[in-house]
Amino acid sequence: MQFFIDTANLDEIKTASTWGIVTGVTTNPSLIAKEGKKLIDVIREIVRMIDGPISAEVQEGPAEAMVEEAFGLAKLHPNIVIKIPMTIEGIKAVSVLSRHGIPTNVTLCFSVAQAMMAANAGATYVSPFLGRLDDDTKDPEAGYRLLEDIRVAYDNYEIPTEIIAASIRHPKHVEQSALAGADIATIPYKVFLQMIEHPLTARGLQIFRDAAK
Ligand code: G3P
Repeated sequence: MQFFIDTANLDEIKTASTWGIVTGVTTNPSLIAKEGKKLIDVIREIVRMIDGPISAEVQEGPAEAMVEEAFGLAKLHPNIVIKIPMTIEGIKAVSVLSRHGIPTNVTLCFSVAQAMMAANAGATYVSPFLGRLDDDTKDPEAGYRLLEDIRVAYDNYEIPTEIIAASIRHPKHVEQSALAGADIATIPYKVFLQMIEHPLTARGLQIFRDAAK
């Protein structure tokens, strides 16, 4: 399973790029707004830091407007992936963009039915949201089951659309993503730092440090 970083913060992306394990970046309007910068300016910086798929989200609206914005973003760099919301207009836009060979990531996916619509439109990626589904259902396994079900449905038809596990809140979500067969997990910076921690690792390090003295 590949790791993408889910942030628009350039310092976080720069640091994460030095780890050698992050192969792409996803952003969304909330993450861009948090940085107080324009989408286009942030994306221009990100493509210099990570040589892999960089998701940039278009503003929700009629398909024609989203396609036009997508063409503008796609021109910035060959690694740009157009992130499109899960609406009928979004699906229409994905169909057009896929015919033009522009990679897409259909976001805000909460059901197998939605994932099938994205796949049939030719989406390169689909992004099921684990954390938001778990929160909404108050079930810590709801996102996990959704991922498993999308994996089964896609495998039934050898669908090439890649599954990006998104809305990841903690390391357990990353483990669930891997066990359910997600192709990619897009992970916030702070969750990466939590993933490397384990109390027994810390205890073991201390024992080795003491021994080394
Ligand atoms: O990039 C989309 C997604 O990961 C959002 O996460 O935490 O806002 O639900 P969150």
